[in-house]
Amino acid sequence: MAKLKLAVLISGRGSNLQSLIDACRAEDFPAEIVHVISNVPGVMGLDRAAQANIPTTVINHTTFADRTAFEIALGEVLTQSGAGLICLAGFMRLLSDTFVTIWHDRIINIHPSLLPAFKGLDVHRRAIDAGVRFSGCTVHFVRPDMDCGPIIAQAVVPIHADDDAPALAARILEQEHVIYPLAVKLIAENRTTIVNECVTVENSSSGKSFLVNPAPD
Ligand code: GRF
Repeated sequence: MAKLKLAVLISGRGSNLQSLIDACRAEDFPAEIVHVISNVPGVMGLDRAAQANIPTTVINHTTFADRTAFEIALGEVLTQSGAGLICLAGFMRLLSDTFVTIWHDRIINIHPSLLPAFKGLDVHRRAIDAGVRFSGCTVHFVRPDMDCGPIIAQAVVPIHADDDAPALAARILEQEHVIYPLAVKLIAENRTTIVNECVTVENSSSGKSFLVNPAPD
C-alpha cells in the first residue's frame, strides 16, 4: 500500500520531527515525510531534516505583509509537496480559519498537556501551579480554535511534588515522542474515524487500568 505523505511544520528544536523521522525509517511504517517547512530560519529542526535527506523550505512569516500572504505561500509549498497530512510539530504560528478549513481533517498537532486542559503556552508552569496530579500530551486534529479538535492519542504523565516546569516538560516530551508516531500510524492505516468530533480507533485495546498519584497506601 502507498505510504501516507507527511509534511511537518516546525519553528524550532524539532525533537517531535525527529521522532517522526525515526519512525518513518522502519520499512513497515505506513507514512513518509516528504517535506519539512519552518517559519523560522536556522532552527535545529531544519538540520535534522537535512540530515535525513528530507527537502526543507523556510517560509519566514516576518517577510510577508500579513497572515493571508504567509498562508498562501505555505499552501503552495504544501500542495507542491504532495502531502496528504500536515503534522504541526512545535509550529508556533496560529493558522487561520480559512487555512484550517481548506485542510480539514488533514492537519494534526501535538500539544504538551491533557487537552482540553491547559491550552496555549506555558502549560507546564500552569499545570504545576494548578496543583493537578497528572498532565501529559495530546495529538489531535486541528480545528480553527487554538488547541481544539478531535483527540487521536494522549499519554498521561504524573506530576511529582518536586517538579519544576523544565523537569515536567522533559518527562512529557518523552511521551510526545511515543504518541506522535502512533497517531500518524493510526491515520495512515485508516483506523481513525471522526464522529461528532470524537475520534474512534479501529482495533484499539480498551485499557481498563487506572492511574493514581500519589499511590494509595
Ligand atoms: C513540544 O512540546 C510540542 O508539544 C509543542 O512544542 C514543543 C516542540 O518541541 N507544541 P520540538 O520542537 O518538537 O522539540
